[in-house]
Amino acid sequence: MAEKQILFIDACARKESRTRRLTESVLSHIEGRVTHLKLYEKEMFPLDENAINQRDECVACGSCEPDHLSFAKQFAAADEILIAAPYWDFSFPSLLKVYLENVTVNGITFTYTEAGIPKGLCKAGRLLYVTTAGGPITDASFGYGYVQALCSNLYGIADTEYLCAENLDIIGMDPDAILREAEAEAARRFGTGKVYNHPELSITECSREEKSRGIIVLNPVEQSSTSDT
Ligand SMILES: Cc1cc2nc3c(=O)[nH]c(=O)nc-3n(C[C@H](O)[C@H](O)[C@H](O)COP(=O)(O)O)c2cc1C
Repeated sequence: MAEKQILFIDACARKESRTRRLTESVLSHIEGRVTHLKLYEKEMFPLDENAINQRDECVACGSCEPDHLSFAKQFAAADEILIAAPYWDFSFPSLLKVYLENVTVNGITFTYTEAGIPKGLCKAGRLLYVTTAGGPITDASFGYGYVQALCSNLYGIADTEYLCAENLDIIGMDPDAILREAEAEAARRFGTGKVYNHPELSITECSREEKSRGIIVLNPVEQSSTSDT
């Protein structure tokens, strides 16, 4: 049987990202070949009029291969997709939106039926969305909600799952303990009893300084006296 192709979309800006650490822990429970797509190391632009026209022409002729179509093709071909995206301003970093714009291509990741209904063209059976937040997310997981809507309405990815670690930057909380609990949850939910070592990845530990720096307080009442953001 062909090896499962896992696409790890890394929308984490920071070298010592806790979101990446949590996602790598999820990946350690999943067998397959991981392609680590580091968005911050790619050339990627928001769609402008030129890019829209160029991409429509390319999809219509079916032969040319501009770089931005390769993201869509890679996404459509993956057997399983993981997105690592820190919780920024109630959703995710804008680079992930730019990536999704480049991936949502009529004719590659979705199409329309003759009745005008969108039909997914993605191979993946499951997409896992992993995030970490400085404060509580509660029911404001708009980033995941948006990705989930794309999966179910356009891409045809039926199974979407969500894993988060919250309150990492609140004074008095122990971010490492919260992350370890989220990693244990990942093992319970996605584990098969085996742990896989993906050579492309290295699970990064938070530095001591990072742990002790947990000082963002998002409660507006306390913000003026204790926030450093
Ligand atoms: C630009 C920016 C925006 C943020 N917005 C929020 C927010 O709206 N709510 C929240 O709880 N934390 C927010 N945070 C804190 C991050 O969610 C938190 O530190 C997260 O763990 C960072 O993930 P990382 O370690 O993978 O970079 C924000 C951080 C940054 C840098």
